[in-house]
Amino acid sequence: MKRTVIIDALKSTAIGELIHVCGWVRSRRGNKNVSFIALNDGSTIKNIQIVADLTKFSEEQLKPITTGACISATGLLVASQGAGQSVEIQLTDFEVFGTADPEKYPLQKKGLSMEFLRTIAHLRPRTNTFGAVFRIRHNMAMAIHTYFHEHGYFYFHTPLITASDCEGAGQMFQVTTKNLHNLKKDENGQIDYSDDFFGRSAALTVSGQLEGELGAMALGKIYTFGPTFRAENSNTPRHLAEFWMIEPEVAFIDKDELMDLEEDFIKYCVRWALDNCMDDLEFLNQFVDKGLIERLRSVIDTEFVRLPYTEGINILQEAVKNGKKFEFPCQWGDDLSSEHERYLVEQHFGKPVIMTDYPRDIKAFYMKINEDGKTVQGTDVLFPQIGEIIGGSVREADFDKLNAEIDRRQIPMKDMWWYLDTRRFGAAPHAGFGLGFERLMLFVTGMQNIRDVIPFPRTPKNAEF
Ligand code: 4AD
Ligand code: MG
Repeated sequence: MKRTVIIDALKSTAIGELIHVCGWVRSRRGNKNVSFIALNDGSTIKNIQIVADLTKFSEEQLKPITTGACISATGLLVASQGAGQSVEIQLTDFEVFGTADPEKYPLQKKGLSMEFLRTIAHLRPRTNTFGAVFRIRHNMAMAIHTYFHEHGYFYFHTPLITASDCEGAGQMFQVTTKNLHNLKKDENGQIDYSDDFFGRSAALTVSGQLEGELGAMALGKIYTFGPTFRAENSNTPRHLAEFWMIEPEVAFIDKDELMDLEEDFIKYCVRWALDNCMDDLEFLNQFVDKGLIERLRSVIDTEFVRLPYTEGINILQEAVKNGKKFEFPCQWGDDLSSEHERYLVEQHFGKPVIMTDYPRDIKAFYMKINEDGKTVQGTDVLFPQIGEIIGGSVREADFDKLNAEIDRRQIPMKDMWWYLDTRRFGAAPHAGFGLGFERLMLFVTGMQNIRDVIPFPRTPKNAEF
């Protein structure tokens, strides 16, 4: 008989008809007369209840149906007497695909800690919480592709292996086939990469932006959506060494239009979650973060604050004067830390903030320099609970200014010739941003740690699974 997925079975009106489902047993309980099996197949957070009549099945027959076992079940779909579900299945036949020894299966108990579940990341998708998170993750990916497709953007595939450090922060993972046990160096003590796989040193990309700009200079509006890698030794609940980034790049827009895009896009994604993931959100709202759904609604209903960095610093210094204690300093010119960002967003304004016009020296080389010569047209979006969720900017389109900045920062010119060609030939004003996919996931799920919104997190000292 053809399998019905549980999300459809639960909505079915074919009462009295035979139905066939497959899934993993969440629990089995009962009494002398009946056994109740809660079955889940991942299609929804909800289980279907299967009722086994003990005059038809012996306890011995049902014994392998323990928490974690995988079974198929056939039976009559009937209206349910119990609360919480409209239908259930009266078991007529079943097959055990795989048992799960109750002495050894680690997901027996409820309320296991997130830390423990990380050590069994290969099994945690079978919990309610991670099932919900990963279904939402899929939905957010669909939201992103749909948004850009509907707005006339092209999905542009930028390389994962590259020779350029877009952010200039020196946080790249090297890619080499050289024998690391026998590295030859030249007379200056430098490694010779000419005989390496790519004939030069290469690394995993930290951002698809530079190549994305090349796409925008031909197709007008593009976006990337792929993995990015940063060898930054940050052990925080908001950093991963491998994370996914969405990077739209758009020709002919200015700073205001860029901020409009950032705000519209993020609201679209949050609205998508509310429209398509309510069962999972309700679960997370109940068990993970009681304020979640309210916070999601408030973000789509509110206008984001647009705040120049300099004004932000004034607000922070005013707060310090009034007794607020921060761990890190906040003088003009400092990079804001997440405590500063969260103070502005959560305490001062109580809503998302798009911070603009940062000091030139704390931002990357490609940002458009303002008339004052001191600030650049960056437009980061700061979110409650998260801090920075988007990093964006207008790009410096002027060849001479960009070239001077590359010189000033001593970025090796020979590596950047192709990037500079966009400013040599048909240069156009353009802008773009990068959204950290897992930071969006943190916001949308209410999860506290970025390691718990990606199936297999990569962090310092951890590449298990
Ligand atoms: O601010 P970032 O470094 O900006 C860029 O990479 C630009 N090239 C983007 C662009 O303009 N096209 O990173 C962008 C976003 C951050 O705002 C943050 O959400 C996320 O990427 N991010 C990280 N997420 C998880 N782990 C990390 N280590 C991250 N580093 C940045
Ligand atoms: Mg940034």
